[in-house]
Formats: sequence, C-alpha cells, structure tokens
Amino acid sequence: MTSTVTMLVRAGAALLLGAGLGLAGASSSQAGGKPTITKEPFGSVGGKAVDRYTITNGNFRVRVLTYGGILQTVETPDRHGRLTNVTLGFKTLNEYVTSGNPAYFGALIGRYGNRIANGRFTLDGRTYQLAINNDPNSLHGGDVGFDKRVWSATPVTNGGDPALRLTYVSPDGEENYPGTLRTTVTYTITRDKGIRIDYQATTDKATVVNLTNHAYWNLGGEGTGTIDDHKLQLNASRYTPVDATLIPNGRLDPVAGTPMDFREPTAIGARNRSNFQQIVYGRGYDHNWVLDRRDTSYRKLERAAKVTDSASGRTLTISTTEPGIQFYGGNFLDGTLYGTSGRAYRQGDGLALETQHFPDSPNHPNFPSTVLRPGQTLKSTTIYQFGASR
Ligand code: GLA
Repeated sequence: MTSTVTMLVRAGAALLLGAGLGLAGASSSQAGGKPTITKEPFGSVGGKAVDRYTITNGNFRVRVLTYGGILQTVETPDRHGRLTNVTLGFKTLNEYVTSGNPAYFGALIGRYGNRIANGRFTLDGRTYQLAINNDPNSLHGGDVGFDKRVWSATPVTNGGDPALRLTYVSPDGEENYPGTLRTTVTYTITRDKGIRIDYQATTDKATVVNLTNHAYWNLGGEGTGTIDDHKLQLNASRYTPVDATLIPNGRLDPVAGTPMDFREPTAIGARNRSNFQQIVYGRGYDHNWVLDRRDTSYRKLERAAKVTDSASGRTLTISTTEPGIQFYGGNFLDGTLYGTSGRAYRQGDGLALETQHFPDSPNHPNFPSTVLRPGQTLKSTTIYQFGASR
C-alpha cells in the first residue's frame, strides 16, 4: 500500500508543471496532448492561501479550487468538438467568499449534504443542535460547511489519469457535529471525459456524515439560459416526498403517474410548473430520488441519471455508489449572481444532481444509515461522464 502511495505521489509531482504555467483562459480553444495539472495562486481567505488547479486530459479541462474543493469550470466538447464551460461558478475567489456562495456552485458539501430537520438529531442517546441556516432547518453542514473550508491538495495519478487529492480535517465539535472527521476527496479527470469523485472519511467518535458535490450543469454552456429543454432520465421508481420546509416525511413514494417520474427521458421544463403539491413546495424540482439499485450495500457503481441537451449534443451520465440523488432545478437562482462569463443566473439556469444519502436520515431510522463510527471508513464514488452525440 505504502509503495503504491509513493508511486502515485511521484507520478503526480511529475505532472505538476508549476504555478501559472500554460494556463489558458476560459476560452473555447481546444485542449489536447498529454494530460497536465497546473497550479496557480488564486488569492487567500482568512489568511490561508487558495490555489487553483487546471487539469487537462485530451479535449477535456477542469478547474478545481482548494477553497471548498470547488469545481470552478468544466470544459467539454459539443458534437462539433467545441469546448464550452458547462458548470456554473464565479470568476474570482472574492465572489465566492463575499457572496458566501449561497447556491453552493461546484462545492464539496459536508459534513451533511442537504437538510436535517430543526438542525437536531440524537445519536447514542445524545442530542446535537446544529446551526439553523435554512429556517427552520440545517442545510449543507451549517454556517461554515466544507464548501467554505480551504482544503490541502496533492496532485496524483489514478490509473494513468491526472487526479487531485483534497483533504480536510474537521475538528471534534465543528459546527456542533461530534468527532474529528478526516475527509479525503479525489477528483480524477479521465481520458474519456469523466470526472470521478472518490470520497473517504474516518472519525474518532460516532457521528453522521453525508458527502456530495453541488455542481450545477448547463450542457448548452454556463450563462446561456435555462435548462428547461434538457432531457433528464433518473433510474428511480421512488422518491422521498417532503413537507413545506423540504424535510422528508419518511415515506418512499412511487413516482408513477406523477411529475416526479423521470424513468423515461423527459424535458425538465415539461412539468416544473405543475401544481403537484411536491413541485409547489420546491418551487420546482428540489427532491431526493431513491435510486433503483441492485447493490444495496452501496459499494458498487450503478447508473443513476442521464442528462441530454439535443441542441449542443452534449450528454452527462452519472453513476454512483450512493442510494439517492437530489435533483435541484436551480429554483432559487434569482438573477442576483453573475457567473464566470459575466451573465446573471436566473431561475432554472442550471441543474444540480447531488448523489447522496437521503436528506434528514439521522431522524429516519428507515432510511439507509449515515452514522459513521470509529474504525469504519466511509467510501463513496460518483462519476460524471460527459459525451457528445450527433
Ligand atoms: C440543495 C437544496 C436546495 C437549495 C440548494 C442550494 O439542492 O435542496 O433547496 O438549498 O441546495 O441553493
């Protein structure tokens, strides 16, 4: 094991071309050649230096910030081979920091992805009160979640592909969660235009954890309008219905016969203005789907979702080891945030597909458990696979 790690680090160091080297702007120029990772300073927050890594593999390029482990840009070709950035984000660190990145563009989410009812849960007889940052609930890890932390980064290689390993040690009691949580997230940029995300975490006290990434996609290009025409397919026959504060009521309801049915590819705009109670609560789609899985030990990668944009030809296929996926249609984007290309993001200008355990699992014993105990290692993998069809 040790020798494998040494080899990875050495191979990774060889890939690191040095600060600022060979960095193109967010242009539509074609990438190519050997896979590369370059690093450049991207400012600082709270006295901590933040870096931006640009990882290129073939005609595919991804930028990752050590602040929040944010996927800042993802450039992938359309059916004519033209690269465009398909993820929502900001141009500068200052915009992420001063806005608080309220929509969580591209960020790693922890310790707990999505909501915990009234910010409260009981574990082994002790009750923990978390920050109420999404009244009356706790959302995405509380006031200062993993999306606002500076992670340590090491470039590595994974199966011959360039990768970036990010680590963050969350002290016992941070945001009122128990246990020192050591988290490692590895982004591998594969030669066939995939972003593979491997999550690992360990703790020294029993705790609850639900890690995800909150990237928004617009396959026509970031800042080009709504995703209403994108077709979405979800491998899910059930979803977890919510109350008016978007907390699951504990049931796993069938999607059949409702606007929640995405078993066949369906345009997002076809039903997101429906008066179905769940859509009314979410102001559109903002729900967790229960993936139809063969492997219920949550170790194997299985296909979860596919997004298709027929105008550009771009496709995004998502596979995961997780039991659920939150499909959020960008309902709360209100035109006040300006993205990397300088254009305002309005309602529905991007969609997030967050692979995860179900929201509020600590308060629902019938949901797959999010408890992590000392001696156990949380392992979870999600692959965002891009493609282009004729
Ligand atoms: C998640 C939530 C949404 C919203 C977004 C961030 O997807 O379910 O309600 O909070 O994050 O804006």
